[in-house]
Amino acid sequence: MARQESLAVVKEPETPAEETARIHIMGKSYVVPAGLTILKAMEYAGYRLVRGVGCRGGFCGACATVYRKAGDFRLYVGLACQTGIADGMYLTQIPFYPAPKPLYDIHRLSAGGETIFRFFPEVARCIQCNTCTKVCPQGLDVMRYIAAAQQGDFKRVAELSFDCIACGLCVSRCPGEIAHYHVGLLARRLYAAHLTPKAIHLRTRLGEIQEGRFSKEVETFCKMDRQSLQRLYAQRAIEPEEEVALPGKSNSDED
Ligand code: FES
Repeated sequence: MARQESLAVVKEPETPAEETARIHIMGKSYVVPAGLTILKAMEYAGYRLVRGVGCRGGFCGACATVYRKAGDFRLYVGLACQTGIADGMYLTQIPFYPAPKPLYDIHRLSAGGETIFRFFPEVARCIQCNTCTKVCPQGLDVMRYIAAAQQGDFKRVAELSFDCIACGLCVSRCPGEIAHYHVGLLARRLYAAHLTPKAIHLRTRLGEIQEGRFSKEVETFCKMDRQSLQRLYAQRAIEPEEEVALPGKSNSDED
């Protein structure tokens, strides 16, 4: 007699249960797969992000986020596209923090500290608490570049603030209510427009273009299709890279 198969067969899951985390987005609780970034977790939870997202690669500064971790009173900040979720996390995005952008013609401004104070007199309210530096997801020394801006040292500001992505998190925490990233931007523009040495060859080439020296070539390029242009671009002559001597090693060491 054939053996009867049991009807109560328990089917083993083909894949182990996914690990999950409970997070709280703007006060509402969601269970999402563990290991996601905040940005992906928000999308998984059903948020359709039309603000608060841009490059997804940590460059545009659109996804500033404030959060707290379970059992920790501290307020943390980060970029949603770069920060992983953790079980028990409370978070909200702040895609923009109020910081009016002044309008100016950079070529009509003087390249001194007085221009900074004209547009941003609040920089004098810096109490050197260093909160702006601590909160910066780019790890910039924000307080130091504000100090350099006060002194009109725009080269220093440009160096220290070069990687600013204008996420606005510094502005959100500053007790002096300074809009740091706008200060850095103005200083970098002043430095570029008034203080850096002019590229003579670039100016010469622009003059040549304006005089129509390359008009025929430009006309030809405009008639070419995309593939032909790409091919031409790939075949362009590239200047050989200059050999750079490493510190402590002369170029003749390998002789
Ligand atoms: S989306 Fe651009 S920095 Fe996060």
